[in-house]
Amino acid sequence: MRKTTMELSRPLLDVIKARTSWRSYSPASIEPDHKKKLLSLIDEKVTSPFGASCKLQWLTMEGVDPAEKKKLGTYGVISGAREFVVGITPEGDLNAVQHLGYVMERVVLLATDLSLATCWLGGTFSRTGVAGLVKAAHGDSIPAMVPVGHPTGHRHVVDIVVRLAVKAKARLPFERVFFDGGFGRPLVRSRAGVLEAPLEAIRLGPSSKNSQPWRVVVAGDGDAIHFYNVSRWHLDLGIAVCHFDLQAKEQGTAGAWRVEDPGVAAPEGISYVISWFKE
Ligand SMILES: Cc1cc2nc3c(=O)[nH]c(=O)nc-3n(C[C@H](O)[C@H](O)[C@H](O)COP(=O)(O)O)c2cc1C
Repeated sequence: MRKTTMELSRPLLDVIKARTSWRSYSPASIEPDHKKKLLSLIDEKVTSPFGASCKLQWLTMEGVDPAEKKKLGTYGVISGAREFVVGITPEGDLNAVQHLGYVMERVVLLATDLSLATCWLGGTFSRTGVAGLVKAAHGDSIPAMVPVGHPTGHRHVVDIVVRLAVKAKARLPFERVFFDGGFGRPLVRSRAGVLEAPLEAIRLGPSSKNSQPWRVVVAGDGDAIHFYNVSRWHLDLGIAVCHFDLQAKEQGTAGAWRVEDPGVAAPEGISYVISWFKE
């Protein structure tokens, strides 16, 4: 039996490889049974390694007045999308933003498995406009939202330009983001053992401006994995932890998450966040 809590029809790494940000959406509606699956995942109470809470809300702009649609403020980057998942966290709670990264990425992966297109949006939308549309409460913050729908046959020109600007297809090599015992020693793939797939799941994931702003130190021959954040990109860290956690669970590599700073000397601007310990 598969060990992820999400019901995917294929191995997680295949879904991760199939996902790509899509910025132009066709008028075709999401099939009712697919929407039902997504809605039930959104409503699921998910515990993540961060032990925080957040809210996901489905926002439909189907048949909505164009003036209302403008409030999304997606700045011409996203075209044609009518369904969105909006992420809501308590204002100023950065741990909840990491948790949101974890929880919302599960929705992105399920949508991908259902052959739907998505695009994480952390910047190119209007936070106040969307807060009004979802009737957010005082003290709520909206770190991100994700359009979900059928992709158009071809990427529109803005999508092509954005992808070129951020080199969307490229990923940093394994040895640039994963380290062996400390930041002075890059981790060679052949030393990763059973952790190779969970680490690869992190590396292939999406990140803001494709910056891959996380680093991982593998200690004690894979007994402990320490996650570090480059420049405090909390959503991206949550996505990285999600990919590692789901892949480790899927392949049956058991472990537990704890915040237990190993005291490894880290380069300037890189800060410790959380660790995974093999069990
Ligand atoms: C947390 C997060 C925020 C993002 N915000 C935006 C955004 O505001 N606008 C946008 O066009 N793309 C955004 N992206 C998409 C990234 O640019 C994209 O994931 C990256 O370039 C890699 O391309 P890929 O997703 O096609 O693999 C975001 C991605 C993540 C993970």
